[in-house]
Amino acid sequence: MIRSVVRGFGAALPKRVMTNKEIESKVDTSDEWIVQRTGIRQRYIAGEGETSASLGEAAARAALERAELTPDDIDLIIVATSTPDNTFPATAVNIQNRLGMRHGAAFDMQAVCSGFVYAVATADAYIRGGLSKRALVIGAETFSRLLDWTDRTTCVLFGDGAGAIVLEAQEGAGTKADRGILTAQLRSDGAHREKLYVDGGPSTTGTVGHLRMEGREVFKHAVGMITDVIEAAFEATGTTADDIDWLVPHQANRRIIDGSAKKLGIPLEKVVVTVDLHGNTSAASIPLALDAAASDGRIKKGDLVMLEAMGGGFTWGSVLLRW
Ligand SMILES: CC(C)(COP(=O)(O)OP(=O)(O)OC[C@H]1O[C@@H](n2cnc3c(N)ncnc32)[C@H](O)[C@@H]1OP(=O)(O)O)[C@@H](O)C(=O)NCCC(=O)NCCS
Repeated sequence: MIRSVVRGFGAALPKRVMTNKEIESKVDTSDEWIVQRTGIRQRYIAGEGETSASLGEAAARAALERAELTPDDIDLIIVATSTPDNTFPATAVNIQNRLGMRHGAAFDMQAVCSGFVYAVATADAYIRGGLSKRALVIGAETFSRLLDWTDRTTCVLFGDGAGAIVLEAQEGAGTKADRGILTAQLRSDGAHREKLYVDGGPSTTGTVGHLRMEGREVFKHAVGMITDVIEAAFEATGTTADDIDWLVPHQANRRIIDGSAKKLGIPLEKVVVTVDLHGNTSAASIPLALDAAASDGRIKKGDLVMLEAMGGGFTWGSVLLRW
Protein backbone atom coordinates (compact mmCIF):
# COMPACT_ATOMS: atom_id res chain seq x y z
CA MET A 1 0.00 0.00 0.00
CA ILE A 2 1.29 3.46 -0.90
CA ARG A 3 1.75 5.85 2.04
CA SER A 4 2.56 9.57 1.99
CA VAL A 5 5.60 9.96 4.24
CA VAL A 6 6.98 13.27 5.55
CA ARG A 7 10.49 13.55 4.14
CA GLY A 8 11.26 17.18 4.97
CA PHE A 9 9.92 20.21 6.82
CA GLY A 10 10.70 23.91 6.96
CA ALA A 11 9.38 27.29 8.08
CA ALA A 12 9.80 31.00 7.52
CA LEU A 13 8.78 34.01 9.58
CA PRO A 14 8.83 37.73 8.76
CA LYS A 15 11.70 39.72 10.23
CA ARG A 16 9.54 41.95 12.40
CA VAL A 17 8.18 40.88 15.80
CA MET A 18 5.18 42.73 17.24
CA THR A 19 4.73 42.29 20.98
CA ASN A 20 1.48 42.71 22.91
CA LYS A 21 2.99 45.89 24.40
CA GLU A 22 3.28 47.38 20.92
CA ILE A 23 -0.40 46.58 20.20
CA GLU A 24 -1.30 48.47 23.40
CA SER A 25 -0.29 51.64 21.53
CA LYS A 26 -2.69 50.86 18.64
CA VAL A 27 -5.93 49.75 20.36
CA ASP A 28 -7.44 49.73 23.87
CA THR A 29 -6.02 46.42 25.09
CA SER A 30 -3.34 45.10 27.44
CA ASP A 31 -0.63 42.46 27.44
CA GLU A 32 -2.36 40.92 30.47
CA TRP A 33 -5.75 40.61 28.70
CA ILE A 34 -4.22 39.09 25.55
CA VAL A 35 -2.06 36.57 27.45
CA GLN A 36 -4.86 35.54 29.79
CA ARG A 37 -7.54 35.10 27.08
CA THR A 38 -5.38 33.70 24.28
CA GLY A 39 -1.87 32.76 25.45
CA ILE A 40 -0.41 35.01 22.71
CA ARG A 41 2.66 37.08 23.71
CA GLN A 42 3.92 38.19 20.29
CA ARG A 43 3.39 37.66 16.56
CA TYR A 44 5.44 38.28 13.41
CA ILE A 45 4.25 40.91 10.92
CA ALA A 46 5.26 40.92 7.26
CA GLY A 47 7.14 44.02 6.12
CA GLU A 48 7.68 45.53 2.70
CA GLY A 49 8.54 42.83 0.16
CA GLU A 50 7.44 40.01 2.45
CA THR A 51 4.35 38.25 1.05
CA SER A 52 2.62 34.88 1.33
CA ALA A 53 4.56 33.74 -1.76
CA SER A 54 7.96 34.95 -0.51
CA LEU A 55 7.45 33.39 2.93
CA GLY A 56 6.06 30.21 1.33
CA GLU A 57 9.06 30.01 -1.00
CA ALA A 58 11.49 30.32 1.93
CA ALA A 59 9.65 27.59 3.88
CA ALA A 60 9.58 25.34 0.78
CA ARG A 61 13.32 25.80 0.20
CA ALA A 62 14.02 24.88 3.85
CA ALA A 63 11.83 21.75 3.56
CA LEU A 64 13.54 20.70 0.31
CA GLU A 65 16.98 21.17 1.87
CA ARG A 66 16.08 19.03 4.87
CA ALA A 67 14.66 16.38 2.53
CA GLU A 68 17.89 16.54 0.47
CA LEU A 69 15.80 17.16 -2.64
CA THR A 70 15.61 19.87 -5.31
CA PRO A 71 12.56 21.36 -7.04
CA ASP A 72 13.24 18.88 -9.90
CA ASP A 73 12.17 16.06 -7.56
CA ILE A 74 8.74 17.61 -6.84
CA ASP A 75 5.70 17.06 -9.07
CA LEU A 76 2.94 18.76 -7.05
CA ILE A 77 2.68 21.98 -5.01
CA ILE A 78 -0.37 22.71 -2.90
CA VAL A 79 -0.46 26.01 -1.03
CA ALA A 80 -3.00 26.49 1.73
CA THR A 81 -3.69 30.21 2.01
CA SER A 82 -6.49 32.73 2.48
CA THR A 83 -4.11 35.62 1.83
CA PRO A 84 -2.82 35.05 -1.71
CA ASP A 85 -0.42 37.54 -3.31
CA ASN A 86 -3.02 38.07 -6.05
CA THR A 87 -6.64 37.03 -6.47
CA PHE A 88 -5.22 34.92 -9.30
CA PRO A 89 -3.06 33.19 -10.38
CA ALA A 90 -2.60 30.91 -7.40
CA THR A 91 0.16 31.58 -4.88
CA ALA A 92 1.23 27.99 -5.62
CA VAL A 93 2.21 28.85 -9.21
CA ASN A 94 3.97 31.99 -7.95
CA ILE A 95 6.03 29.77 -5.61
CA GLN A 96 6.51 27.20 -8.40
CA ASN A 97 8.02 29.96 -10.56
CA ARG A 98 10.18 31.27 -7.70
CA LEU A 99 11.54 27.73 -7.29
CA GLY A 100 12.35 27.62 -11.00
CA MET A 101 9.96 24.74 -11.65
CA ARG A 102 8.38 24.41 -15.09
CA HIS A 103 6.90 20.94 -14.60
CA GLY A 104 4.26 19.33 -12.40
CA ALA A 105 1.06 20.95 -11.11
CA ALA A 106 0.49 23.70 -8.57
CA PHE A 107 -2.72 25.03 -7.03
CA ASP A 108 -4.07 26.76 -3.92
CA MET A 109 -6.39 25.37 -1.30
CA GLN A 110 -8.76 27.65 0.58
CA ALA A 111 -10.08 26.29 3.86
CA VAL A 112 -8.89 29.17 6.08
CA CYS A 113 -7.34 27.92 9.33
CA SER A 114 -8.02 24.29 8.37
CA GLY A 115 -6.21 24.88 5.07
CA PHE A 116 -3.06 22.94 5.90
CA VAL A 117 -5.02 19.88 7.07
CA TYR A 118 -7.12 20.06 3.86
CA ALA A 119 -3.96 20.45 1.75
CA VAL A 120 -2.20 17.50 3.40
CA ALA A 121 -5.33 15.34 2.93
CA THR A 122 -5.48 16.39 -0.74
CA ALA A 123 -1.78 15.71 -1.40
CA ASP A 124 -2.17 12.32 0.31
CA ALA A 125 -5.07 11.46 -2.02
CA TYR A 126 -3.00 12.47 -5.08
CA ILE A 127 -0.05 10.38 -3.87
CA ARG A 128 -2.11 7.30 -2.98
CA GLY A 129 -3.99 7.64 -6.28
CA GLY A 130 -0.70 7.57 -8.21
CA LEU A 131 -1.00 11.16 -9.49
CA SER A 132 2.03 12.42 -7.56
CA LYS A 133 5.27 10.95 -6.23
CA ARG A 134 6.50 13.90 -4.20
CA ALA A 135 4.46 16.88 -3.11
CA LEU A 136 5.33 20.17 -1.45
CA VAL A 137 2.52 21.11 0.93
CA ILE A 138 2.79 24.70 2.11
CA GLY A 139 0.77 26.86 4.49
CA ALA A 140 1.55 30.55 3.87
CA GLU A 141 -0.28 33.56 5.26
CA THR A 142 -0.07 37.31 5.74
CA PHE A 143 -3.22 37.82 7.83
CA SER A 144 -1.86 41.17 9.09
CA ARG A 145 -2.98 42.58 5.71
CA LEU A 146 -6.60 41.45 6.24
CA LEU A 147 -6.95 42.81 9.75
CA ASP A 148 -8.88 45.86 10.83
CA TRP A 149 -6.17 47.40 13.02
CA THR A 150 -8.81 49.48 14.85
CA ASP A 151 -10.73 46.37 16.01
CA ARG A 152 -9.23 45.10 19.27
CA THR A 153 -11.37 41.96 19.22
CA THR A 154 -9.51 40.60 16.15
CA CYS A 155 -6.23 42.46 15.51
CA VAL A 156 -4.53 41.09 18.63
CA LEU A 157 -5.04 37.47 17.56
CA PHE A 158 -3.31 36.96 14.21
CA GLY A 159 0.19 36.92 12.73
CA ASP A 160 2.11 36.09 9.54
CA GLY A 161 4.36 33.21 8.53
CA ALA A 162 4.74 30.04 6.46
CA GLY A 163 5.58 26.38 6.91
CA ALA A 164 6.05 23.50 4.48
CA ILE A 165 6.49 19.75 4.32
CA VAL A 166 7.59 17.39 1.56
CA LEU A 167 5.38 14.31 1.26
CA GLU A 168 6.80 11.30 -0.60
CA ALA A 169 5.18 8.08 -1.86
CA GLN A 170 6.63 5.10 0.00
CA GLU A 171 5.50 1.50 0.16
CA GLY A 172 3.81 0.52 3.46
CA ALA A 173 2.30 -2.68 4.85
CA GLY A 174 -1.13 -1.07 5.26
CA THR A 175 -1.07 -1.22 9.07
CA LYS A 176 -1.02 1.50 11.72
CA ALA A 177 2.69 0.74 12.21
CA ASP A 178 3.43 2.25 8.74
CA ARG A 179 5.20 5.57 8.48
CA GLY A 180 3.19 8.25 6.68
CA ILE A 181 -0.39 9.46 6.72
CA LEU A 182 -2.71 6.89 8.28
CA THR A 183 -5.99 8.81 7.94
CA ALA A 184 -7.42 12.25 7.21
CA GLN A 185 -10.85 13.39 8.39
CA LEU A 186 -12.32 16.55 6.83
CA ARG A 187 -15.55 18.37 7.67
CA SER A 188 -17.27 21.68 6.87
CA ASP A 189 -20.55 23.41 7.62
CA GLY A 190 -21.26 26.60 5.68
CA ALA A 191 -24.17 27.50 7.96
CA HIS A 192 -21.51 29.11 10.17
CA ARG A 193 -19.89 31.15 7.39
CA GLU A 194 -20.74 34.55 8.90
CA LYS A 195 -19.15 33.81 12.27
CA LEU A 196 -15.64 34.21 10.83
CA TYR A 197 -15.29 35.79 7.41
CA VAL A 198 -13.76 38.61 5.36
CA ASP A 199 -16.19 41.39 4.42
CA GLY A 200 -14.89 41.83 0.90
CA GLY A 201 -14.02 39.90 -2.25
CA PRO A 202 -13.69 40.24 -6.03
CA SER A 203 -17.23 39.07 -6.75
CA THR A 204 -19.03 41.17 -4.12
CA THR A 205 -17.30 44.42 -3.20
CA GLY A 206 -14.38 44.33 -5.58
CA THR A 207 -12.13 44.92 -2.57
CA VAL A 208 -10.00 42.68 -0.36
CA GLY A 209 -11.99 43.42 2.80
CA HIS A 210 -11.26 42.91 6.50
CA LEU A 211 -11.53 39.94 8.82
CA ARG A 212 -14.68 39.88 10.96
CA MET A 213 -15.34 37.41 13.73
CA GLU A 214 -17.80 36.55 16.45
CA GLY A 215 -15.06 35.28 18.76
CA ARG A 216 -17.35 33.85 21.42
CA GLU A 217 -19.33 31.87 18.79
CA VAL A 218 -16.13 30.43 17.30
CA PHE A 219 -14.90 29.51 20.76
CA LYS A 220 -18.21 27.80 21.59
CA HIS A 221 -17.96 25.39 18.64
CA ALA A 222 -14.19 24.83 18.51
CA VAL A 223 -13.53 22.16 21.16
CA GLY A 224 -16.48 19.98 20.10
CA MET A 225 -15.54 20.10 16.40
CA ILE A 226 -11.86 19.40 17.08
CA THR A 227 -12.53 16.44 19.35
CA ASP A 228 -15.08 15.05 16.85
CA VAL A 229 -12.51 14.74 14.02
CA ILE A 230 -9.78 13.44 16.32
CA GLU A 231 -12.07 10.73 17.63
CA ALA A 232 -12.98 9.88 14.00
CA ALA A 233 -9.25 9.48 13.26
CA PHE A 234 -8.86 7.17 16.27
CA GLU A 235 -11.80 5.09 15.08
CA ALA A 236 -10.54 4.88 11.48
CA THR A 237 -7.13 3.59 12.57
CA GLY A 238 -7.85 1.58 15.71
CA THR A 239 -5.76 3.94 17.84
CA THR A 240 -6.50 5.76 21.11
CA ALA A 241 -5.33 8.90 22.89
CA ASP A 242 -2.74 6.79 24.73
CA ASP A 243 -1.02 5.96 21.41
CA ILE A 244 -0.42 9.61 20.49
CA ASP A 245 3.14 10.87 20.89
CA TRP A 246 2.40 14.45 19.79
CA LEU A 247 -0.72 16.53 19.25
CA VAL A 248 0.09 19.39 16.87
CA PRO A 249 -3.01 21.59 16.89
CA HIS A 250 -3.85 24.68 14.87
CA GLN A 251 -2.59 27.52 17.03
CA ALA A 252 -5.55 29.88 17.49
CA ASN A 253 -5.91 30.16 21.23
CA ARG A 254 -4.23 28.47 24.19
CA ARG A 255 -7.58 27.88 25.93
CA ILE A 256 -8.98 26.02 22.89
CA ILE A 257 -5.81 23.90 22.65
CA ASP A 258 -5.82 23.03 26.36
CA GLY A 259 -9.59 22.37 26.38
CA SER A 260 -9.37 19.98 23.41
CA ALA A 261 -6.38 18.07 24.84
CA LYS A 262 -8.12 17.76 28.21
CA LYS A 263 -11.36 16.47 26.67
CA LEU A 264 -9.41 13.86 24.68
CA GLY A 265 -7.25 12.80 27.65
CA ILE A 266 -3.98 13.85 25.94
CA PRO A 267 -1.50 15.19 28.53
CA LEU A 268 -0.32 18.77 27.90
CA GLU A 269 3.34 17.58 27.79
CA LYS A 270 2.44 15.91 24.48
CA VAL A 271 0.94 19.05 22.94
CA VAL A 272 3.06 21.32 20.73
CA VAL A 273 2.27 24.98 21.49
CA THR A 274 3.64 27.92 19.48
CA VAL A 275 0.68 30.32 19.74
CA ASP A 276 2.59 32.32 22.37
CA LEU A 277 5.28 33.16 19.80
CA HIS A 278 3.40 33.24 16.49
CA GLY A 279 -0.22 34.16 17.30
CA ASN A 280 -2.77 32.63 14.92
CA THR A 281 -1.09 32.28 11.51
CA SER A 282 -4.10 30.45 10.03
CA ALA A 283 -3.02 27.78 7.49
CA ALA A 284 0.64 28.31 8.42
CA SER A 285 0.27 27.51 12.11
CA ILE A 286 0.49 23.70 11.95
CA PRO A 287 3.55 23.48 9.68
CA LEU A 288 5.23 26.21 11.77
CA ALA A 289 4.54 24.14 14.91
CA LEU A 290 5.72 20.93 13.19
CA ASP A 291 8.95 22.66 12.19
CA ALA A 292 9.53 23.89 15.75
CA ALA A 293 8.97 20.50 17.38
CA ALA A 294 10.79 18.41 14.76
CA SER A 295 13.78 20.81 14.60
CA ASP A 296 14.37 20.67 18.35
CA GLY A 297 14.09 16.86 18.42
CA ARG A 298 10.75 16.49 20.19
CA ILE A 299 9.05 14.82 17.20
CA LYS A 300 11.14 11.82 16.14
CA LYS A 301 10.99 9.28 13.32
CA GLY A 302 8.27 6.73 14.11
CA ASP A 303 6.28 9.02 16.44
CA LEU A 304 2.49 9.03 16.07
CA VAL A 305 1.45 12.64 15.40
CA MET A 306 -2.08 14.05 15.34
CA LEU A 307 -2.72 17.29 13.43
CA GLU A 308 -6.00 19.13 13.89
CA ALA A 309 -7.55 22.43 12.90
CA MET A 310 -10.80 24.35 12.93
CA GLY A 311 -11.54 27.66 11.24
CA GLY A 312 -13.68 29.87 9.01
CA GLY A 313 -16.50 28.19 7.14
CA PHE A 314 -16.63 26.49 9.52
CA THR A 315 -14.10 23.95 8.31
CA TRP A 316 -12.38 21.44 10.54
CA GLY A 317 -10.28 18.34 10.18
CA SER A 318 -7.59 16.02 11.48
CA VAL A 319 -4.66 14.08 10.04
CA LEU A 320 -3.05 11.16 11.87
CA LEU A 321 0.44 10.32 10.66
CA ARG A 322 3.50 8.40 11.73
CA TRP A 323 6.54 10.69 11.41
C1 LIG B 1 -11.62 36.36 20.90
C2 LIG B 1 -11.58 35.78 22.32
C3 LIG B 1 -10.13 35.71 22.77
C4 LIG B 1 -12.32 36.72 23.24
O1 LIG B 1 -12.29 36.17 24.55
P1 LIG B 1 -13.61 36.06 25.41
O2 LIG B 1 -13.23 35.55 26.72
O3 LIG B 1 -14.61 35.28 24.59
O4 LIG B 1 -14.01 37.57 25.52
P2 LIG B 1 -15.38 38.25 25.08
O5 LIG B 1 -15.51 38.30 23.60
O6 LIG B 1 -16.46 37.61 25.88
O7 LIG B 1 -15.09 39.70 25.60
C5 LIG B 1 -14.91 39.99 26.97
C6 LIG B 1 -14.64 41.47 27.12
O8 LIG B 1 -13.31 41.75 26.64
C7 LIG B 1 -13.34 42.82 25.71
N1 LIG B 1 -12.27 42.64 24.74
C8 LIG B 1 -12.33 42.03 23.52
N2 LIG B 1 -11.13 42.09 22.94
C9 LIG B 1 -10.31 42.74 23.80
C10 LIG B 1 -8.95 43.08 23.75
N3 LIG B 1 -8.16 42.77 22.71
N4 LIG B 1 -8.42 43.72 24.81
C11 LIG B 1 -9.17 44.02 25.87
N5 LIG B 1 -10.46 43.73 25.96
C12 LIG B 1 -11.03 43.09 24.94
C13 LIG B 1 -14.71 42.73 25.08
O9 LIG B 1 -15.09 43.96 24.53
C14 LIG B 1 -15.57 42.34 26.27
O10 LIG B 1 -15.83 43.49 27.02
P3 LIG B 1 -17.31 43.72 27.64
O11 LIG B 1 -17.52 42.56 28.58
O12 LIG B 1 -17.18 45.05 28.30
O13 LIG B 1 -18.23 43.68 26.46
C15 LIG B 1 -12.23 34.39 22.37
O14 LIG B 1 -13.60 34.49 22.16
C16 LIG B 1 -11.65 33.45 21.37
O15 LIG B 1 -10.51 33.08 21.47
N6 LIG B 1 -12.47 32.99 20.40
C17 LIG B 1 -12.00 32.12 19.38
C18 LIG B 1 -11.30 32.95 18.37
C19 LIG B 1 -10.48 32.15 17.46
O16 LIG B 1 -9.67 31.35 17.89
N7 LIG B 1 -10.65 32.40 16.16
C20 LIG B 1 -9.87 31.81 15.16
C21 LIG B 1 -10.35 30.44 14.88
S1 LIG B 1 -9.40 29.82 13.58
